[in-house]
Amino acid sequence: MQIETEHKARRKNLADKLAGGVAVLHGSGIQTRSFDTTFPHRQDSNFKYLTGLDEPEAFLIITSDPFQSILFVRPKNDFEEMWGGLRMGVEKAQQILDFDEVHPIEDFSKVIIEKLKGSRKVFIDFSNRKFVTKMLDHMDELARFRKLKVHKPSGLEDITPLVGSLRLIKSAPEIESMRRAAEITNIAHRAAMAMSKPGVNESEIEALLEYIYKKNGARHPAYESIVAGGDNALILHYIENNRELKSGQMLLIDAGSEFNTYASDVTRTTPVDDKFDPLHQELYEIVLEAQKSGLSRASVGHTIGDVHESATRILIRGLLDHKILTGTVDEIWEKGLHKPYYPHGTSHWLGLDVHDNSPYLDDELNDLKFVPGMVFTIEPGLYFQYNNECPERYKGIGIRIEDDVLITDSDHDNLTSMIPKTVHEIEEMKKCDYRDFLL
Ligand code: GLY
Ligand code: MN
Ligand code: MN
Repeated sequence: MQIETEHKARRKNLADKLAGGVAVLHGSGIQTRSFDTTFPHRQDSNFKYLTGLDEPEAFLIITSDPFQSILFVRPKNDFEEMWGGLRMGVEKAQQILDFDEVHPIEDFSKVIIEKLKGSRKVFIDFSNRKFVTKMLDHMDELARFRKLKVHKPSGLEDITPLVGSLRLIKSAPEIESMRRAAEITNIAHRAAMAMSKPGVNESEIEALLEYIYKKNGARHPAYESIVAGGDNALILHYIENNRELKSGQMLLIDAGSEFNTYASDVTRTTPVDDKFDPLHQELYEIVLEAQKSGLSRASVGHTIGDVHESATRILIRGLLDHKILTGTVDEIWEKGLHKPYYPHGTSHWLGLDVHDNSPYLDDELNDLKFVPGMVFTIEPGLYFQYNNECPERYKGIGIRIEDDVLITDSDHDNLTSMIPKTVHEIEEMKKCDYRDFLL
């Protein structure tokens, strides 16, 4: 009897949604960086989810009636492997992976024609335009067999919402990988807090984060690290990471490791000096309170919209207390008058991708309600831009606090709660020596 692997169970779950159709996926290829240099390979998340395979260039066909999964991998080739690294090859893939058939990738064009026969629907990933064209060519080829007595697919459908809704609920092994990513990110943020002081360059801290990821088994960051001293924090996706830290600034680090292709996504904002300056601390406490309020809505039955509203209302209260906004919390929330100071959402799904590609709305276009196994971020912030209408002393300040939360049966589990976050925890962490994290 064959043991059903988790990946095979996922393919079966997808097949059940295909209504007699066929799903066809193409794994990531090697991406050119410039001329003959390449980016590090990173498997397409849907492909990884359904196969567990990390090798580039592969194809996957899933038929639903009958349920079958067919994998296409690069064949063994001594010369290519000498230059570019070892390949699993067809034989080994057949032995160790749980597929009905495994073929070399050059057989894809022949096999896909056979599998399209009798199918009315073909589900693919529309974001891969080259692959869309390739599949249209194959359908066109099949359409020429006009007298062949089989149904032929007449169009392509988007596979993303189908796989995305499966990816929304994390299994125990997925949660295990996410916990490990969070743990490695914890070490990295702690080390970064210990290293940051006036005169250190943002780039040194970025390098420290990545050293700690790799040392602990995470090959890559889950996204480009944001190491933003002072007013660089006002650029939400600041990735230059090349300025020197100065006394009197805060440092916003938004960085997370990727472990086994699963992301963590964490932001901490800390003083560059040993202690928070009084205004920074007051504003920091508002954001911390907002995050706490968001966390109080992270349980079954609530939504990402509830988390956002709850956190944002606390930010608005803080902006009113500082006389930066005037009016009532209700009026400001309803009219969105806080947006110059808080322009982004509070949460996004997290998983194989940092902004995990899963649906946010149900069929009636309402926010999806939380159920156990969902993982998302809670990341309120306050940003005082130079063109905001606020007193000068606020301008240039950017603060964000971000954690990764798993919905459980009874409440939630904050996967990144161990990363220092209160003023006291951060100031204590800053007394440590970053070199202790290198051992
Ligand atoms: N690091 C990207 C984000 O927080 O959404
Ligand atoms: Mn995030
Ligand atoms: Mn982030």
